[in-house]
Amino acid sequence: MSTIVEPRPIDEEKLNAFVGRVVEEVGATFNAALVVIGDKLGLYRALAGSGPVTPEELAGRTGTSERFVREWLNAQAAGGYVEYDPADGTYELPPEQAVALADEGSPAFVCGAFQLATSTIKDEPKIREAFRSGEGVGWHEHHHDLFEGCERFFRPGYAANLITSWIPALEGAEEKLRAGATVADVGCGHGASTILMAKAYPKSRFAGFDYHRESIERATARAEAEGLADRVRFAVAPAKEYPGSAYDLVTMFDCLHDMGDPVGAGRHVRESLAPDGTWLVVEPYAGDRVEDNLTPVGRVYYAASTMICTPGSLAQEVGLALGAQAGEARIREVVERAGFTRFRRATETPFNLVFEARP
Ligand SMILES: C[S@@+](CC[C@H](N)C(=O)[O-])C[C@H]1O[C@@H](n2cnc3c(N)ncnc32)[C@H](O)[C@@H]1O
Repeated sequence: MSTIVEPRPIDEEKLNAFVGRVVEEVGATFNAALVVIGDKLGLYRALAGSGPVTPEELAGRTGTSERFVREWLNAQAAGGYVEYDPADGTYELPPEQAVALADEGSPAFVCGAFQLATSTIKDEPKIREAFRSGEGVGWHEHHHDLFEGCERFFRPGYAANLITSWIPALEGAEEKLRAGATVADVGCGHGASTILMAKAYPKSRFAGFDYHRESIERATARAEAEGLADRVRFAVAPAKEYPGSAYDLVTMFDCLHDMGDPVGAGRHVRESLAPDGTWLVVEPYAGDRVEDNLTPVGRVYYAASTMICTPGSLAQEVGLALGAQAGEARIREVVERAGFTRFRRATETPFNLVFEARP
């Protein structure tokens, strides 16, 4: 039986306020491609610290066309990304924007987030089809910008927190790593976290695993370029089947919720750990209830989860589809079902929850 619902009256003021806000959002959405262009063509890097420049000067320094660069700069100025001086027709990247847009080593670097976000627009037809079919779309089926954007999105946070805060928050792990431990970094992607740890703990040995071959090839090349190949190796392996045993530490950075069978993956972690080993699980920051996550950060994660994480998990066996906003209670449930008896939130940042699980 269907009930008749009285339509809610339109509040003109609220409608206008919403449309006004959306104009800003549409501008930001268009700007996403412009940020990726500015990043990939080195426009922001050429602007950083260079003082006021004309479009012609910027085009000359970057080997690009003046007419395109002028239009791009006007869009950047309208969005507050660069400053425009009408007196002499020059544009300048303020120092704060230079850190966020041109300094890849800064924790505030944001270009990876834009690369990640625009990759989902490229994959929109695949995901739209998945909405209809209910089938998954695997990580490996996405545009290349997802893999690179993901690494560049997460790396600044790992560089700022992993060695100084997350590892020290675990019981006894830092001492073991300093003395010489064996570590498996599962779902390692391009290996950003593996390489950070390997550099910080030169007496330890690291194995990075991911089911995605292209990512493992990239990670392997990175380890070789950094001169770490003797202590760091990468191999293609799904989380339920990676080789090795008696690991002191198994880590999963922003990937447990991407897996189809996180409980099965956890069971394998349990089997592969030393009796006093530690499983470090880093997950996107989230509360347990939807209403806890209706925030700017939650919005980013729910959107990424719709386009990437949920279809990725559904493409694998079991297809639990935890989503990127699973929250502590669901992660605890997964970890306990996997056979771990001790579980706690070790620490957190505005973007991540850091869990420690022990057998
Ligand atoms: C969001 S990315 C995170 C990558 C990396 N940990 C990082 O922080 O940059 C998720 C990763 O999990 C991997 N992945 C998903 N399911 C997996 C599975 N069942 N076994 C191994 N890796 C998996 C994907 O290939 C992808 O590299």
